[in-house]
Amino acid sequence: DANALWGGRFAGGPAAIMQEINASIGFDQRMWRQDIAGSRAHAAMLAACGIISEADFAAISRGLDQVAAELEEGRFVFDPAQEDIHMAVEARLTELVGDAGRRLHTARSRNDQVALDLRLWVRDAIDALDRQIADLMRALLEQAERHHALPMPGFTHLQIGQPVTFGHHMLAYLEMLARDRGRFADCRARLNECPLGAAALAGTSFPVDRHMTARALGFDRPMANSLDAVSARDFALEFLAACSTCAMHLSRLAEEIVIWMSAPWRFIRLSDAFTTGSSIMPQKRNPDAAELVRAKTGRITGAFVALTMVMKGLPLAYGKDMQEDKEKVFDAADSLALSLAATAGMVRDMVPEPENLRRWAGAGFATATDLADWLVRTLNLPFRTAHHVTGRLVAMAEAKGCDLLELTLAEMQSVEPRITEAVFGVLTVEQSIASRTCYGGTAPANVAAQAAEWRRRLGA
Ligand code: ARG
Repeated sequence: DANALWGGRFAGGPAAIMQEINASIGFDQRMWRQDIAGSRAHAAMLAACGIISEADFAAISRGLDQVAAELEEGRFVFDPAQEDIHMAVEARLTELVGDAGRRLHTARSRNDQVALDLRLWVRDAIDALDRQIADLMRALLEQAERHHALPMPGFTHLQIGQPVTFGHHMLAYLEMLARDRGRFADCRARLNECPLGAAALAGTSFPVDRHMTARALGFDRPMANSLDAVSARDFALEFLAACSTCAMHLSRLAEEIVIWMSAPWRFIRLSDAFTTGSSIMPQKRNPDAAELVRAKTGRITGAFVALTMVMKGLPLAYGKDMQEDKEKVFDAADSLALSLAATAGMVRDMVPEPENLRRWAGAGFATATDLADWLVRTLNLPFRTAHHVTGRLVAMAEAKGCDLLELTLAEMQSVEPRITEAVFGVLTVEQSIASRTCYGGTAPANVAAQAAEWRRRLGA
């Protein structure tokens, strides 16, 4: 039989495959809370503006209470013929309250309705993700506080560069995550305009008050252009881009956890709680959670790319293509939420291996820069010259198979006669780290101060 919502124009029903490709109810039912909140605000506005009667508004409110209760308690019966959550809620409402339910869609289209619901959903998702990012930052902060002075090798090109502290390394991720929060906050601020009242695409002839619905739903203002209101999905793309960047940061940390766990490195340990075994190799302890966090980045960024491709050729205003936005947004939000929780768990679980970190912090001539800096400071050599002298000393140590600290003073002086015994004072890991006192440097006192500053900002 013909569809109840547009059956006036249609004699026959849809082919089964038409219904199947058209339906979004399987996934957009996740937006039921947002859909009902939007309908409540819309109905209240219609009544306040004299577009529906107070009696109809009362019936709609009562009906929506019941629909919400049925959905909340899992008693709501989804009819596969209802294409999406908007139709399902309205159909049930009409079953419950009759003609009043049929008046709810006055001055509204599913086009502004779905744009509204998704904006509300993304706004809620941002708030939840923000809390999770803050929690992960606290987990990193706990490690940074505990290990603000623990030396570890700092790398460039994954080759040993200069010693840093484990706490400094943790705080680097904290800074990244703080910017991720900023990106979500920017996205939230920009998306916080209300599309409701744009109706199908041109606005409505009813005397609606779009400012009233915008205010009731916590938006800063109604969207200024009705075509834009129903066409725009850049808010979803911006959300996905922010998810993608945050996931990329988690992936880098996950990659480091994988490397640090590996036996030839053994920089950290993860407990039984965050590792898995092998069904054949009894000795194995695998960092699966970290690997999966690394992998989720692919699907999160994939969602951003997929929605960009969906949107890029669409003429204004609404096109059914846009129905594909929701699964991308939901999947990216779910994947990021899971990744954040797993990462916070791993970070809290992880225990550094101090001896190993300390040993590798000084390996690979890691204090060569300190030697060059000493030559500049003490002998007033130009830095490039000091770099060259140090390079020759490194080559000498390498040929001898020893550390810079193990060269004799005579050997040092054979390259640069003015070098004195004092040089050995700057070649230890502790001395190197302690000397990095410039703002943002890795000196333990700096790291402790930065950690204290983050503790103040993040609270307990
Ligand atoms: N399920 C649709 C979506 O997700 C709702 C809007 C449908 N609008 C329309 N004119 N067919 O985009």
